[in-house]
Amino acid sequence: MQITIKKTLNRRQFIRDISLLSAGFALMPKNIFAESSQTITRPIPSSGERIPVIGMGTSRTFDVGNDPAAMAQLGQVLQVFFDNGGALIDSSPMYGSAEKVVGELLKTIHNKKKLFAATKVWIDEKQNGIEQMQESMRLMGVAVMDLMQIHNLRDWKIHLPTLKQWKQEGKIRYIGITTSHGRSHAELMQIMRTEDLDFVQFTYNLGNRAVEDSLLPLAADRGIATLINRPFQRGALFRDVKGKALPEWTKEFDCQSWGQFFLKFAVSHPAVTCVIPATSKVHHMADNMAAGFGRLPDAEMRNRMIRYFESV
Ligand SMILES: NC(=O)c1ccc[n+]([C@@H]2O[C@H](COP(=O)([O-])OP(=O)(O)OC[C@H]3O[C@@H](n4cnc5c(N)ncnc54)[C@H](OP(=O)(O)O)[C@@H]3O)[C@@H](O)[C@H]2O)c1
Repeated sequence: MQITIKKTLNRRQFIRDISLLSAGFALMPKNIFAESSQTITRPIPSSGERIPVIGMGTSRTFDVGNDPAAMAQLGQVLQVFFDNGGALIDSSPMYGSAEKVVGELLKTIHNKKKLFAATKVWIDEKQNGIEQMQESMRLMGVAVMDLMQIHNLRDWKIHLPTLKQWKQEGKIRYIGITTSHGRSHAELMQIMRTEDLDFVQFTYNLGNRAVEDSLLPLAADRGIATLINRPFQRGALFRDVKGKALPEWTKEFDCQSWGQFFLKFAVSHPAVTCVIPATSKVHHMADNMAAGFGRLPDAEMRNRMIRYFESV
């Protein structure tokens, strides 16, 4: 079944269509919100530049080599991302062919002007880092990388001076550092306290909230933008709520699916700048992008979400 998207489609209609999508209907969403509603954005503290709160990851999902069927599907995933106000794409040389796949597919996307390209350096030693970063930019097809991050703190003392120099030279626009799974938080916090960073990336989701008492307040205090990885705990959160109905009160913050529930929870933390869910599916991308529109839960509602999630 093909769903026709009217130009004046409003958010409520969109959410109905998303329900159809989730039920497995084929669709190529286009410009779903464009004329009715604005993507939620947050400022990068070091510059004031605003980016949409929903970005996308590419770990595993975009590591498809040259598989034509997978490439065609991911081309649609990427198109839905840009059609619905997406900008930030996070990759890494650690993710196999993902940087190359992103670069190839971006050539086919017509409305990618807002692209905010982010990748990482993930290797030991200075010269290896330089060569890896040059290769990442070539593969992703960008002359300037918006955000270059040090992946999992790897050889960070060596790479940070290169990143600072590249930023001065205009080869990259922002500097970041990443971790995940709750690893290396003590060392990361020490780096955040002493170094001049634009971004920090780590894991935060309803099943893993440890950073609420540590990294998130520190990032806010130091004026560092935050990228949130594993917002679905790599999909595990969906298994936790399998067979459970979404509560009626989620309508109060324009939430129509568990995916939106998890994303709106992460996004609504005041110290969060952008959340980067990964998907290989068109209807999941449409679902995820919907979390970047409408109302967000307030502090009281966030507590209710935590209580509900912990009770199911
Ligand atoms: N140290 C680091 O720097 C680091 C570490 C981890 C992650 N990251 C970054 O963060 C990104 C996100 O983390 P992640 O990929 O580990 O995990 P994630 O985004 O928490 O979860 C991805 C999983 O959720 C599923 N999914 C996505 N949207 C869905 C929806 N609306 N409904 C149901 N299922 C959905 C995906 O399956 P489908 O394909 O079937 O949709 C996939 O299996 C990564 O891709 C990467 O860019 C960075």
